[in-house]
Amino acid sequence: MLSIDLRGRVALILGGSRGIGAGITRAMCQAGAYTVFTHTGNPKNRGRIDMLVEGIGRDGGSVEENTLDALDPEGTKKLVDNIIGKLKKIDILVCNVGRNLARTVEETTVEDWKKFVDINLSSVYYGVKAVIPHMVERKYGRIILIGSSAVFDGGGGAIDYAAAKAGMTGIMKYLCRVYIKKGINTNIVHPCVIDTDLVRGRYSTEEMWQKLSSQIPVGRVGTPEDIAGMVAYLASLWGDYICGQEILLDGGRTMFNK
Ligand SMILES: NC(=O)c1ccc[n+]([C@@H]2O[C@H](COP(=O)([O-])OP(=O)(O)OC[C@H]3O[C@@H](n4cnc5c(N)ncnc54)[C@H](OP(=O)(O)O)[C@@H]3O)[C@@H](O)[C@H]2O)c1
Repeated sequence: MLSIDLRGRVALILGGSRGIGAGITRAMCQAGAYTVFTHTGNPKNRGRIDMLVEGIGRDGGSVEENTLDALDPEGTKKLVDNIIGKLKKIDILVCNVGRNLARTVEETTVEDWKKFVDINLSSVYYGVKAVIPHMVERKYGRIILIGSSAVFDGGGGAIDYAAAKAGMTGIMKYLCRVYIKKGINTNIVHPCVIDTDLVRGRYSTEEMWQKLSSQIPVGRVGTPEDIAGMVAYLASLWGDYICGQEILLDGGRTMFNK
């Protein structure tokens, strides 16, 4: 029987509390990885985080949550050092933190630009910077970035978001070129309209949601599990021969829209 086996692996999911990140946290645990995920500590999401952690515990998974501002490089390093102190290693890093607000260039301020580029791009650098020395030392690592289909079609509704996500592809290619021979394999998964808070906020009425679903050739909006399965696959032995790739998971929407 084929399966995704991550037993004995330690995974760090930056932004793993809800939406796609929660799906990835669950999938990592289902595959047997000891999983540490981060979130901002927003009290509004407390109930969902408790449900996520309890559900994983009931299913026999091993999970830990941590509050981390993804814009804090020292905090990110401290968290990584603490995990290594306790668990001795981090095998898998998933950079999923992201935020978006649709608006035109005219409506976008310089502060918006800096804020959203920081959240969507600098957070990836801080995560990578913190884990790389340790992965190099162990000659093993899997880094999976969560980008966006905006890289292919300019969608997403904001100039800073599209630019930051394209920047993630640059980070992924750089990492693969420089570190693949040191045992660290990096890929990027680009989601497109997955049913999460981020997308529900943009398509807020039932009519908008139905219209969106009808634009997707497979006939539905994606689920966090659609993305999580690919991330777990890339993190597993099955992903050994996939290096420096951009994997678009969009139910055919990008091609259909052309
Ligand atoms: N949903 C889609 O259709 C879609 C499409 C293309 C790309 N993506 C990308 O996929 C990723 C996940 O999207 P999603 O839809 O699941 O988003 P979401 O439901 O809004 O979740 C975002 C995650 O990022 C965390 N986060 C945001 N800002 C943070 C910060 N400053 N510090 C630490 N954590 C922070 C959130 O933590 P809190 O819970 O604490 O806020 C949460 O875990 C993002 O990178 C997004 O750009 C999504």
